[in-house]
Amino acid sequence: MSLSVVILAAGKGTRMRSSLPKVLHKVANKPMVGHVIDAARQLDAENIYIIYGFGGEVLKATLTENTSNDDLIFIEQTEQLGTGHAVDMASPSIKDDEDILVLYGDVPLTKVSTLQKLLDVKPDNGMGLLTVNLANPNGYGRIIRKDNSVVGIIEQKDATPEQLLINEANTGILLANGEDLKRWLGNLSSDNAQGEYYLTDIIAACHNEGKDIATAHPESEVEVEGANNRLQLATLERAFQLRKAEEIMLAGASLRDPSRIDIRGDLVIGQEVQIDINCIFEGEVVLAHGVKVSANCILKDCIIGENTIIKPNSIIEGAVVGDDCSIGPFARLRPGTIMNKDSHVGNFVEMKKTILGEGSKAGHLTYLGDTTIGQKVNIGAGTITCNYDGVNKFHTSIDDGAFVGSNSSLVAPVFIGANATVGAGSVIAKDVEAEELAVARGKQRNISSWKRPTKK
Ligand code: UD1
Ligand code: CA
Repeated sequence: MSLSVVILAAGKGTRMRSSLPKVLHKVANKPMVGHVIDAARQLDAENIYIIYGFGGEVLKATLTENTSNDDLIFIEQTEQLGTGHAVDMASPSIKDDEDILVLYGDVPLTKVSTLQKLLDVKPDNGMGLLTVNLANPNGYGRIIRKDNSVVGIIEQKDATPEQLLINEANTGILLANGEDLKRWLGNLSSDNAQGEYYLTDIIAACHNEGKDIATAHPESEVEVEGANNRLQLATLERAFQLRKAEEIMLAGASLRDPSRIDIRGDLVIGQEVQIDINCIFEGEVVLAHGVKVSANCILKDCIIGENTIIKPNSIIEGAVVGDDCSIGPFARLRPGTIMNKDSHVGNFVEMKKTILGEGSKAGHLTYLGDTTIGQKVNIGAGTITCNYDGVNKFHTSIDDGAFVGSNSSLVAPVFIGANATVGAGSVIAKDVEAEELAVARGKQRNISSWKRPTKK
């Protein structure tokens, strides 16, 4: 049977104290609802319906900015009359012969494997319900069982004192056949303590038709927790990060402290990778076999080759780094940087749109922008490529084996030939051909017995 997913995201989220709709608040730099959408996609949902309400235009605009979200179907719930009413907004689109999974836009950490368990337990003639045993189920709907079978859900505010003692809580996540669901939703009433159309009332409706309700359970509570305020959001963030840390440790990475790493995207690692504390990984990052990332590094959208060492406090974005390189401490690689095998950049070196050839080095205090550097080139301390005239950017080319003396300015566009040498302190504005020495600096004058000024 095909599957569609309805994601409830119409809530106002007053307790976030924010102008942003609650489900757009982020976990690991991705809106909470984005995590839920990812899960729906991994289940191969045919249609994904987003029920939006408060701030819905912002929600829709934010999600549809990205064309990869073109598969989402947005349905407005103008008045929030309850969870049953919210799901019913999708009824006109729901097909009889499909299964419908209800998820919540503010519950981002549900594992796909848990949802798969729910899909697996659902009887053909009945429904599936995700429940969880909680030491303190306060606030949750309670699962009513008779002879061990689920017969209904009672909301906290409608429960008797005996029912409040039940520890099995409703997570809100459930699975039902489309035809059944539409029929049950059509018959809901708002005759309850909150005057709402409760989605949870479909459980009793299902039971009353003689159909079975099978339950599945998450591995941990955090999978079914929502975030109503920023405190809870921070708790989910930590839980998510710990889960990510565990994933990469099991994949072969050593973390100095799994509680001090942040992965905000996809981190792919080879074996024997070592990561020290306080590193942030954003977007798509690949660390090949044997890479060492020292403390306080930020890596975004980059690929790091085998056995490369990244020393502390380095920032790498949009770069491709080869095998056996070393970077930092305090280096900054900006987008378009390529470091070939065995190359080295040291402290306070910044590179942008620059190719550093195999075995080449820029050890200290240097800016290399829009530059192509061949093999075994030495860039002296304090070398600056002057790539910008205030309006346009220009390119610098440095061929194999060249040696650029310290504190040189290379005024682009300019070319330094193979094995050429640039004297320290030079301002190079004309091309230097292969094997030439270029010295471009004021001549030194020495004045003997010079007397320094004295204080007046
Ligand atoms: C609901 C369940 C409760 C369960 C709990 C788990 C019902 C009646 N109760 O209670 O059994 O234990 O979730 O957290 O379903 N929403 C809409 N439109 C609405 C109403 C709600 O989109 O008209 C969305 C909210 O934004 C929220 C979700 O549905 O994301 C749950 O709504 P909420 O009112 O918070 O339900 P609870 O009272 O927590
Ligand atoms: Ca409510």
